[in-house]
Amino acid sequence: MIKIACIQSNLMGKEPQNEKIIPMPAATLSKKHILGIEGMPIPEINALLDRANYFAEQSKETFSTILANKTVLNIFFENSTRTKVSFELAAKRLGASVLNISVSGSSVKKGETLIDTATTLNAMQPDILVVRHHSSGAPLLLSQHVDAAVINAGDGRHEHPTQALLDALTIKRSLGRISGLKIAICGDINNSRVARSNMYLLSALGADVRFVSPSTLVSPFFSDIGIPIYTDMEQGISECEIVMMLRLQTERMEGREAPSKHEYFNLFGLDHHKLQKAAPNALIMHPGPMNRGVEIDSKIADDNNKSLIRMQVELGVATRMACLEAVAGETL
Ligand code: CP
Repeated sequence: MIKIACIQSNLMGKEPQNEKIIPMPAATLSKKHILGIEGMPIPEINALLDRANYFAEQSKETFSTILANKTVLNIFFENSTRTKVSFELAAKRLGASVLNISVSGSSVKKGETLIDTATTLNAMQPDILVVRHHSSGAPLLLSQHVDAAVINAGDGRHEHPTQALLDALTIKRSLGRISGLKIAICGDINNSRVARSNMYLLSALGADVRFVSPSTLVSPFFSDIGIPIYTDMEQGISECEIVMMLRLQTERMEGREAPSKHEYFNLFGLDHHKLQKAAPNALIMHPGPMNRGVEIDSKIADDNNKSLIRMQVELGVATRMACLEAVAGETL
C-alpha cells in the first residue's frame, strides 16, 4: 500500500489506498535556532509538520546522507528518556555523528558556568546543539555564545517546541486536522513547558485550546491572553476531542500548590467517569513521563482505542528529524 505523505490533505489517519507518496521538502526556517514555538510563523510550523509526516511514512534507512557530515551534540542538564533518545535516533537516521553529554559526567559538576561550557563545546565545532536545561532561557543564552544551531529540548517552565510539534503531528495523523478541534490541556499548567508550547502551536493552527487546572497551578496571565481556564475538570473537558494530561511537576513547585496525590486524582485525574464528559471517541494524550493514578488512570493510559501516548513517542523521532534537518539547512 502506498500512502500520501501530505498533512494538508486531511487524509492522515484514514489509511488511503493506492495513493502516491508525495515527497515533502525540507522545512526552511527564518531563524537559525529552534528555541520555542512562540512567534514561529505558521508556514514554518506546517512545513516542519509536513516534513516530519513524510519522514514518518518512510523506512528508517532512506535518509542517512542528509546530515552525513554534521555533528550533533545532545547536552542534557536535566533528566530525559523520550526526548534524549529520540533526538539521538533522529540524528543517526539522518547520518549525523552524535555525542551525548549528560551533566553528571561533565565539568558543570566542577562549577563551570553555562557560558564556559558553551564556549568549550563550541570550540569543537559541532553543527547542532540540542539542549535541555532546568532554567528557562538557557538555550537562548547558549545560542548567543555558539556558532552551532541550537534546538531547545525543554527549558524550565518556558518551552518544549519539539514536544508540541510531535503532539500536533500525532493529532493530525489521528484526526486529520487541528483547526476547529476542542483541546483541553489539563493539570500543572504553571510548571509546564509542554502546555506553553502547545498553547502557542495548537492555537496558531486554529484549535480551540483551554486549560483545566487547580487555581493554584494556573496563572491568570493565560486568561489575559485569551486561553479559557477551567478549575472544574468535568466542565473543562466537556465536548473536547482531545484531552491532554500533564504531569504534576513537583520538582518545580515551591510550596503546597497541589493537594495530596489522592485528592488531586479525585479532582483532576482523568478516569472513565470524567472522560464521559468529553466528546464521544475523545482521544487522550500525555507527553510523559506519566504518574499513573495521579493525573491519569492506568486503564485509560493503556487503552489503545483512546490513548495516543505511544504514538506521541513514535512520532517524536520523525519530528526531530525534521527539526535537525531544518536547522542544518540540509536536504537530499
Ligand atoms: N516528554 C518529555 O520531554 O519526556 P522526557 O522528559 O522523558 O524527555
